Amino acid sequence: MAKLWGGRFRSEENRVMEDFNSSFPFDYRLYKQDITGSIAHALMLGHQGIIPETEAEAIAKTLREILADIESGALELSARAEDAEDIHTFVEVELTKRLGDAGKKLHTGRSRNDQVAVDMRMYARGCADELIALVDALEKALEKKGAEYPCLMPGYTHLQRAQVVTFPYYMGAYRSMLKRDKKRLENSRELLNESPLGCSALAGTTHKINRAETAEALGFSKPVDNFLDGVSDRDYLVELLSDMSLIMVHLSRLSEELILWSSAEFRFVEIDDAYATGSSIMPQKKNNDACELVRGKSGRVFGDLMGLLTAMKGLPLAYNKDMQEDKEGFFDAVDTVKACLSIMIGVISTLKVNEKVMAASVKRGFLNATEVADYLVAKGVPFRDAHGIVGRIVIACEDRGVAIEDLTLEELKAFDPVFDEGIYDYLDYHQILQKGIKKEMLE
Ligand code: ARG
Repeated sequence: MAKLWGGRFRSEENRVMEDFNSSFPFDYRLYKQDITGSIAHALMLGHQGIIPETEAEAIAKTLREILADIESGALELSARAEDAEDIHTFVEVELTKRLGDAGKKLHTGRSRNDQVAVDMRMYARGCADELIALVDALEKALEKKGAEYPCLMPGYTHLQRAQVVTFPYYMGAYRSMLKRDKKRLENSRELLNESPLGCSALAGTTHKINRAETAEALGFSKPVDNFLDGVSDRDYLVELLSDMSLIMVHLSRLSEELILWSSAEFRFVEIDDAYATGSSIMPQKKNNDACELVRGKSGRVFGDLMGLLTAMKGLPLAYNKDMQEDKEGFFDAVDTVKACLSIMIGVISTLKVNEKVMAASVKRGFLNATEVADYLVAKGVPFRDAHGIVGRIVIACEDRGVAIEDLTLEELKAFDPVFDEGIYDYLDYHQILQKGIKKEMLE
């Protein structure tokens, strides 16, 4: 196969090496970014008088035709296209096939090193936008679900019932996580939005190219500061992988809750049939596979992050072929996280909450014990003593199989004479949420 770089080679590349070296089977998905970047580069070369403007325009026109043909399916991005080591080669070879010698001028003042860097930045920018929209949609779905079921529920520490909260507030915790995720993505997007086009191989070019023009044409805020860094920086992919890893931590924790809550032991929620599956042997089973898969897929996203960190850590400046390894992991993570967010939006939007079961479980587990101690403190009892008194009340209730609110005032007084009618305000789970800063939970 003829190579774009074949001039200095005396013999053919080994066939196995050719496959080993090729990134086309996975980087073909950059076709749009690659063509868009090439159009901006060609037009700039024309404006600067580096190549004739008529040829620059012919290149841009043919590139637009190639893009249209790829999108219509007329030009196939087959898994192993002849002459294509990567998407950049594929597009250039196709351009020259269609346009002849003028096509060979496109690569003036450019290297595949800045080309792949600009392609990846544009691709990553688009991914950030898609992820931001999905994170936002999930956050809205959680808000809506919370508003649909304004019921009380137990809050847990150590997975033991702890204090009363509300279901909307619980959903609010996940919304807070997602709001941070969104900010992180927005920040990563802003940081990455500088154009490496024009850095060329590593040291710029003797041609008087206009980096500001191509940066603007491609929607970047400015050209990168340093050529060496511009071609070899993959921080933005690491950052996005890290943002996505945290999203997966959050989705995985939410999944774990939904798996527990949909079990017969909890019965807090019911997953819609559309997001559950059955068992091949046990006819009664309805399994929460969507959430289990989301929880499970978090592992591969963390792996993708670790893979790129490891690939980058020992690399001298500037471009090294190791960097081709940035793609599969990043693409895998983006595909995975987008799929997980979409599925979770469906799971949450269709979720049914068993308000009665949730409310009933608030009544078991002494979720008002801390508030009884708060009451005693308000009556002047030192907190440590109050803690001890309520602890003894809890033991007595446990022995009798009752809740604190089932005790009469006389019975309470036996533990401390300071108890009066006012205690019942602190025992009622709705009233509790009206007190002190707990009111914030209802806002
Ligand atoms: N396929 C390569 C990559 O993904 C493109 C850059 C090739 N540059 C080079 N000097 N061989 O990184």
